[in-house]
Amino acid sequence: MKRELAAAVRDLASYMRSLDEDLAEVPPRPAADLPAGGERRPDAISALAGQVRSCRKCGLGYARLNAVFGAGSHKARIVFVGEGPGFQEDHQGEPFVGRSGQLLDKIMDTVLGLKRADVYIANIVKCHPMKNPETPEAHGNDRPPTQEEISACRPYLDEQLRFIRPACIVTLGSVPTKVLLNADKGVSLMRGRWYDYPVDLFGPGHPIKVMPTYHPAALLRNPNLKRDTWEDMKMVRAFLETGRIN
Ligand code: URA
Repeated sequence: MKRELAAAVRDLASYMRSLDEDLAEVPPRPAADLPAGGERRPDAISALAGQVRSCRKCGLGYARLNAVFGAGSHKARIVFVGEGPGFQEDHQGEPFVGRSGQLLDKIMDTVLGLKRADVYIANIVKCHPMKNPETPEAHGNDRPPTQEEISACRPYLDEQLRFIRPACIVTLGSVPTKVLLNADKGVSLMRGRWYDYPVDLFGPGHPIKVMPTYHPAALLRNPNLKRDTWEDMKMVRAFLETGRIN
Protein backbone atom coordinates (compact mmCIF):
# COMPACT_ATOMS: atom_id res chain seq x y z
CA MET A 1 0.00 0.00 0.00
CA LYS A 2 2.82 2.37 1.02
CA ARG A 3 4.74 1.43 -2.10
CA GLU A 4 1.69 2.04 -4.33
CA LEU A 5 1.15 5.41 -2.70
CA ALA A 6 4.79 6.36 -3.24
CA ALA A 7 4.54 5.31 -6.91
CA ALA A 8 1.39 7.39 -7.36
CA VAL A 9 3.08 10.42 -5.83
CA ARG A 10 6.11 9.92 -8.11
CA ASP A 11 3.78 9.65 -11.15
CA LEU A 12 1.97 12.83 -10.25
CA ALA A 13 5.22 14.69 -9.57
CA SER A 14 6.72 13.69 -12.91
CA TYR A 15 3.49 14.62 -14.74
CA MET A 16 3.44 18.05 -13.05
CA ARG A 17 7.15 18.59 -13.85
CA SER A 18 6.72 17.64 -17.47
CA LEU A 19 3.76 20.02 -17.93
CA ASP A 20 5.71 22.84 -16.32
CA GLU A 21 8.58 22.67 -18.79
CA ASP A 22 8.72 25.71 -21.05
CA LEU A 23 6.37 25.54 -23.99
CA ALA A 24 8.32 26.76 -26.97
CA GLU A 25 6.79 28.27 -30.09
CA VAL A 26 5.66 25.18 -32.01
CA PRO A 27 7.28 24.68 -35.39
CA PRO A 28 4.91 23.35 -38.09
CA ARG A 29 5.06 19.55 -38.19
CA PRO A 30 6.80 18.16 -41.26
CA ALA A 31 4.52 16.30 -43.64
CA ALA A 32 6.39 13.05 -42.97
CA ASP A 33 5.32 13.27 -39.34
CA LEU A 34 1.65 13.41 -40.16
CA PRO A 35 -0.25 10.21 -39.48
CA ALA A 36 -0.90 7.99 -42.43
CA GLY A 37 -4.61 8.14 -43.09
CA GLY A 38 -7.10 6.08 -44.93
CA GLU A 39 -6.99 2.81 -43.01
CA ARG A 40 -10.76 2.41 -43.42
CA ARG A 41 -12.40 3.15 -46.76
CA PRO A 42 -10.08 6.07 -47.34
CA ASP A 43 -12.33 7.45 -50.04
CA ALA A 44 -15.15 8.02 -47.51
CA ILE A 45 -13.11 10.04 -45.05
CA SER A 46 -11.26 11.98 -47.73
CA ALA A 47 -14.56 12.81 -49.42
CA LEU A 48 -15.81 14.14 -46.09
CA ALA A 49 -12.60 16.15 -45.62
CA GLY A 50 -13.12 17.58 -49.11
CA GLN A 51 -16.67 18.62 -48.22
CA VAL A 52 -15.40 20.36 -45.09
CA ARG A 53 -12.66 22.15 -46.99
CA SER A 54 -15.19 23.64 -49.39
CA CYS A 55 -17.99 24.08 -46.83
CA ARG A 56 -19.85 27.39 -46.78
CA LYS A 57 -22.71 26.34 -44.48
CA CYS A 58 -22.00 29.25 -42.16
CA GLY A 59 -20.08 32.52 -42.22
CA LEU A 60 -16.88 30.91 -40.89
CA GLY A 61 -16.40 29.25 -44.25
CA TYR A 62 -15.96 32.65 -45.91
CA ALA A 63 -13.34 33.98 -43.50
CA ARG A 64 -11.09 30.99 -42.74
CA LEU A 65 -7.64 30.57 -44.19
CA ASN A 66 -7.87 26.76 -43.85
CA ALA A 67 -10.60 24.43 -42.69
CA VAL A 68 -9.27 22.19 -39.91
CA PHE A 69 -10.85 18.82 -40.53
CA GLY A 70 -9.11 16.74 -37.85
CA ALA A 71 -5.97 14.63 -37.62
CA GLY A 72 -4.72 11.33 -36.32
CA SER A 73 -5.35 7.65 -36.67
CA HIS A 74 -8.58 6.52 -38.29
CA LYS A 75 -8.36 3.46 -36.04
CA ALA A 76 -7.96 5.48 -32.84
CA ARG A 77 -9.73 4.20 -29.73
CA ILE A 78 -9.83 7.70 -28.34
CA VAL A 79 -10.93 10.97 -29.94
CA PHE A 80 -10.15 14.34 -28.36
CA VAL A 81 -12.65 17.06 -29.22
CA GLY A 82 -11.86 20.76 -28.81
CA GLU A 83 -13.91 23.85 -29.42
CA GLY A 84 -12.61 25.18 -32.71
CA PRO A 85 -9.42 26.21 -34.49
CA GLY A 86 -7.49 29.27 -33.35
CA PHE A 87 -4.95 31.42 -35.20
CA GLN A 88 -2.23 28.74 -35.52
CA GLU A 89 -4.67 26.04 -36.57
CA ASP A 90 -6.27 28.33 -39.18
CA HIS A 91 -2.83 29.01 -40.62
CA GLN A 92 -1.66 25.38 -40.64
CA GLY A 93 -4.92 23.52 -41.26
CA GLU A 94 -4.19 21.17 -38.32
CA PRO A 95 -5.93 20.93 -34.94
CA PHE A 96 -4.16 21.87 -31.70
CA VAL A 97 -0.83 23.02 -33.11
CA GLY A 98 -0.37 26.05 -30.83
CA ARG A 99 0.65 26.16 -27.15
CA SER A 100 -2.53 24.35 -26.08
CA GLY A 101 -1.70 21.59 -28.53
CA GLN A 102 1.79 21.25 -27.16
CA LEU A 103 0.36 20.80 -23.69
CA LEU A 104 -2.22 18.32 -24.99
CA ASP A 105 0.63 16.30 -26.52
CA LYS A 106 2.40 16.21 -23.16
CA ILE A 107 -0.71 15.12 -21.30
CA MET A 108 -1.37 12.34 -23.80
CA ASP A 109 2.22 11.21 -23.62
CA THR A 110 2.78 11.35 -19.85
CA VAL A 111 -0.54 9.98 -18.63
CA LEU A 112 -1.80 7.85 -21.51
CA GLY A 113 1.50 6.90 -23.14
CA LEU A 114 0.03 7.93 -26.49
CA LYS A 115 1.35 10.06 -29.32
CA ARG A 116 -0.67 12.24 -31.65
CA ALA A 117 -0.56 9.57 -34.35
CA ASP A 118 -2.22 7.06 -31.96
CA VAL A 119 -5.30 9.19 -31.29
CA TYR A 120 -7.66 11.35 -33.32
CA ILE A 121 -8.08 15.07 -32.66
CA ALA A 122 -11.00 17.11 -33.94
CA ASN A 123 -13.05 20.16 -33.08
CA ILE A 124 -16.72 21.04 -32.77
CA VAL A 125 -16.37 23.67 -35.50
CA LYS A 126 -13.89 23.20 -38.31
CA CYS A 127 -13.14 26.83 -39.08
CA HIS A 128 -11.63 29.61 -36.96
CA PRO A 129 -14.29 31.74 -35.25
CA MET A 130 -12.93 35.28 -35.46
CA LYS A 131 -14.11 38.47 -33.81
CA ASN A 132 -13.18 40.33 -36.97
CA PRO A 133 -13.37 37.96 -39.95
CA GLU A 134 -11.67 40.54 -42.16
CA THR A 135 -8.37 40.21 -40.26
CA PRO A 136 -7.36 36.53 -40.11
CA GLU A 137 -3.75 37.68 -39.70
CA ALA A 138 -4.53 39.45 -36.43
CA HIS A 139 -3.68 37.84 -33.10
CA GLY A 140 -6.23 38.00 -30.25
CA ASN A 141 -9.03 37.66 -32.79
CA ASP A 142 -10.54 34.42 -31.38
CA ARG A 143 -14.09 34.07 -30.11
CA PRO A 144 -16.26 31.09 -29.17
CA PRO A 145 -18.42 29.63 -31.95
CA THR A 146 -22.07 30.71 -32.08
CA GLN A 147 -24.96 28.27 -31.77
CA GLU A 148 -25.66 28.67 -35.47
CA GLU A 149 -22.06 27.84 -36.41
CA ILE A 150 -22.08 24.83 -34.07
CA SER A 151 -25.33 23.49 -35.55
CA ALA A 152 -24.06 23.91 -39.11
CA CYS A 153 -20.83 22.01 -38.36
CA ARG A 154 -22.21 19.36 -35.99
CA PRO A 155 -22.96 16.63 -38.56
CA TYR A 156 -19.33 16.52 -39.71
CA LEU A 157 -18.10 15.35 -36.32
CA ASP A 158 -20.65 12.53 -36.16
CA GLU A 159 -19.54 11.39 -39.62
CA GLN A 160 -15.93 11.34 -38.39
CA LEU A 161 -16.92 9.37 -35.29
CA ARG A 162 -18.97 6.91 -37.35
CA PHE A 163 -15.88 6.27 -39.47
CA ILE A 164 -13.35 6.01 -36.64
CA ARG A 165 -15.57 4.06 -34.21
CA PRO A 166 -13.67 5.11 -31.08
CA ALA A 167 -14.28 3.55 -27.67
CA CYS A 168 -14.21 6.95 -26.02
CA ILE A 169 -14.21 10.68 -26.53
CA VAL A 170 -12.47 13.24 -24.34
CA THR A 171 -14.16 16.63 -24.53
CA LEU A 172 -11.76 19.50 -23.90
CA GLY A 173 -13.53 22.34 -22.12
CA SER A 174 -17.07 23.51 -21.69
CA VAL A 175 -18.07 24.06 -25.31
CA PRO A 176 -17.50 20.50 -26.59
CA THR A 177 -18.79 19.07 -23.31
CA LYS A 178 -22.08 20.94 -23.55
CA VAL A 179 -22.48 20.30 -27.27
CA LEU A 180 -21.68 16.57 -27.25
CA LEU A 181 -23.55 15.75 -24.04
CA ASN A 182 -26.49 18.13 -24.53
CA ALA A 183 -25.52 19.53 -21.15
CA ASP A 184 -26.07 22.94 -19.69
CA LYS A 185 -23.39 22.67 -17.01
CA GLY A 186 -19.79 23.70 -17.64
CA VAL A 187 -16.80 21.36 -17.61
CA SER A 188 -15.89 21.98 -13.95
CA LEU A 189 -19.19 20.38 -12.91
CA MET A 190 -19.13 17.62 -15.54
CA ARG A 191 -15.51 16.43 -15.47
CA GLY A 192 -14.20 13.32 -13.73
CA ARG A 193 -17.18 11.12 -14.66
CA TRP A 194 -18.04 8.93 -17.63
CA TYR A 195 -21.09 9.62 -19.77
CA ASP A 196 -22.66 7.84 -22.73
CA TYR A 197 -22.56 9.78 -25.99
CA PRO A 198 -26.26 10.48 -26.54
CA VAL A 199 -26.09 9.97 -30.33
CA ASP A 200 -26.63 6.30 -31.16
CA LEU A 201 -24.02 5.84 -33.91
CA PHE A 202 -23.44 2.07 -33.69
CA GLY A 203 -26.80 0.67 -32.62
CA PRO A 204 -28.31 0.23 -29.17
CA GLY A 205 -25.95 -0.94 -26.41
CA HIS A 206 -22.79 0.39 -28.08
CA PRO A 207 -22.47 3.91 -26.78
CA ILE A 208 -19.21 5.78 -27.09
CA LYS A 209 -18.02 6.72 -23.60
CA VAL A 210 -17.34 10.41 -22.98
CA MET A 211 -14.97 11.91 -20.41
CA PRO A 212 -15.08 15.69 -20.07
CA THR A 213 -11.92 17.42 -18.92
CA TYR A 214 -10.43 20.90 -18.95
CA HIS A 215 -9.24 22.52 -22.16
CA PRO A 216 -5.41 22.76 -22.18
CA ALA A 217 -5.74 26.55 -22.59
CA ALA A 218 -7.46 26.60 -19.19
CA LEU A 219 -4.48 24.73 -17.69
CA LEU A 220 -2.13 27.32 -19.16
CA ARG A 221 -4.17 30.06 -17.48
CA ASN A 222 -4.68 28.18 -14.23
CA PRO A 223 -2.06 25.48 -13.46
CA ASN A 224 -4.10 24.37 -10.42
CA LEU A 225 -6.40 22.57 -12.85
CA LYS A 226 -3.61 20.21 -13.94
CA ARG A 227 -4.22 17.91 -11.02
CA ASP A 228 -7.90 17.34 -11.87
CA THR A 229 -6.94 16.79 -15.49
CA TRP A 230 -4.45 14.17 -14.37
CA GLU A 231 -7.22 12.39 -12.43
CA ASP A 232 -9.49 12.48 -15.48
CA MET A 233 -6.77 11.11 -17.73
CA LYS A 234 -6.01 8.31 -15.29
CA MET A 235 -9.66 7.25 -15.58
CA VAL A 236 -9.26 7.31 -19.36
CA ARG A 237 -6.08 5.23 -19.12
CA ALA A 238 -7.80 2.65 -16.92
CA PHE A 239 -10.68 2.42 -19.39
CA LEU A 240 -8.35 1.99 -22.37
CA GLU A 241 -6.38 -0.68 -20.51
CA THR A 242 -9.29 -2.71 -19.16
CA GLY A 243 -12.27 -1.76 -21.36
CA ARG A 244 -14.15 -1.24 -18.11
CA ILE A 245 -15.43 1.74 -16.21
CA ASN A 246 -14.90 1.47 -12.48
N1 URA B 1 -8.29 25.11 -29.25
C1 URA B 1 -9.26 24.28 -29.71
O1 URA B 1 -10.30 24.13 -29.09
N2 URA B 1 -9.01 23.62 -30.84
C2 URA B 1 -7.88 23.74 -31.53
O2 URA B 1 -7.73 23.07 -32.56
C3 URA B 1 -6.90 24.60 -31.02
C4 URA B 1 -7.12 25.28 -29.88
